[in-house]
Amino acid sequence: MLANLKPQAADKILALMGQFKADDRAGKIDLGVGVYKDASGLTPVMRAVKSAEQLLWQAETTKTYVALAGDPAFGAAMAGLILGPDYPGARLAAAATVGGTGAIRQALELIRLANPEATVWLSDPTWPNHPSIISYLGMKQATYRYFDAETRGVAFAAMIEDLGRVAPGDVVLLHGCCHNPTGANLTLPEWAEVAAVLERTGAIPLIDLAYQGFGDGLEADAAGTRLIAEALPEVLIAASCSKNFGIYRERTGVLLALAPDTGVRDLTQGTLAFLNRQNYSFPPDHGARLVTMILGDPALRAEWESELEEVRQTMLRLREDLARELRDRSGSDRFGFLAQHRGMFSRLGATPEQVERLRAEHGIYMVSDSRLNIAGLNARTVPVLAQAILDCGI
Ligand code: LMR
Repeated sequence: MLANLKPQAADKILALMGQFKADDRAGKIDLGVGVYKDASGLTPVMRAVKSAEQLLWQAETTKTYVALAGDPAFGAAMAGLILGPDYPGARLAAAATVGGTGAIRQALELIRLANPEATVWLSDPTWPNHPSIISYLGMKQATYRYFDAETRGVAFAAMIEDLGRVAPGDVVLLHGCCHNPTGANLTLPEWAEVAAVLERTGAIPLIDLAYQGFGDGLEADAAGTRLIAEALPEVLIAASCSKNFGIYRERTGVLLALAPDTGVRDLTQGTLAFLNRQNYSFPPDHGARLVTMILGDPALRAEWESELEEVRQTMLRLREDLARELRDRSGSDRFGFLAQHRGMFSRLGATPEQVERLRAEHGIYMVSDSRLNIAGLNARTVPVLAQAILDCGI
């Protein structure tokens, strides 16, 4: 039986991790996978997470199962973080998931159960695991234009034109903030236009919110999602705690579903529990419990917010430094978009051959579509990268 298996294509982002590890050059620079690193190259455990873990270790008396959809307090805490303290509880179903990817997967399975014929519309480009999971599930997918390769901003008119063609009941996947892989994001007035188009076409938004707090701040990064949640009767939100709580390996995520009324909410809540049971039964609890503790305790929350803000400011400074370094060295403003983009990623606009030259000649690793992880840089490597970019003719 096992001999019948066909080799699967490696995920292009995760494959980079192995290649980087195997490279024995001392000055190599990892701008691949989306993991935050401080100036010393470490992905730290956040201070509030450490404190919460200590408290949990003292207070926890059992490791027995919690509930199929996870602890309702986690769902409520995440809904408050994402949708604001006045989130519409009567419309809300929530389930803890295995990381943000788990939330995406469960959202897609929910869509497939409700409407197997739905086409899921993805931004062009998007995180490569989106199309991969959709085709694995045998669902239909299409793309809407998103990125303007010239300006490296959002091709908004083209996006709206494409979204205008989406059929009622189809699903539109939107990045809530910090677009992965481009770094180009919608403004709030643009979010309002997107909401109006979705309302007109009867499409269902699925928002992937993996970087809240990494762009313009916790509140600003949720503003588009909140606007959509208010405007539309049915909204799915897949959120990750991997990056903003720095708990990558704990696999902590949540799927929120906003339903038009409490009856549909209850039906959805039951289905989310069912889906968890089918796929992995009870979701992991440790990371979710830490997040619930942090969000519910004013002192821990303040500590977390301040460290998250330090992380955000660090990335903003790196963006500005890199844009300035490139301007000074190239004598042109053509890399100014790096300072305008938000989040961990920017798409540089290099060809796969140029990306390969960066790796081969300079030991600099980024995804082949020229997505670079800004958080992989530091004061020493910014000028090194800037010079290498110019040397490779980018
Ligand atoms: C990324 O895009 O690099 C991260 O979301 C990590 C991943 O799982 O791909």
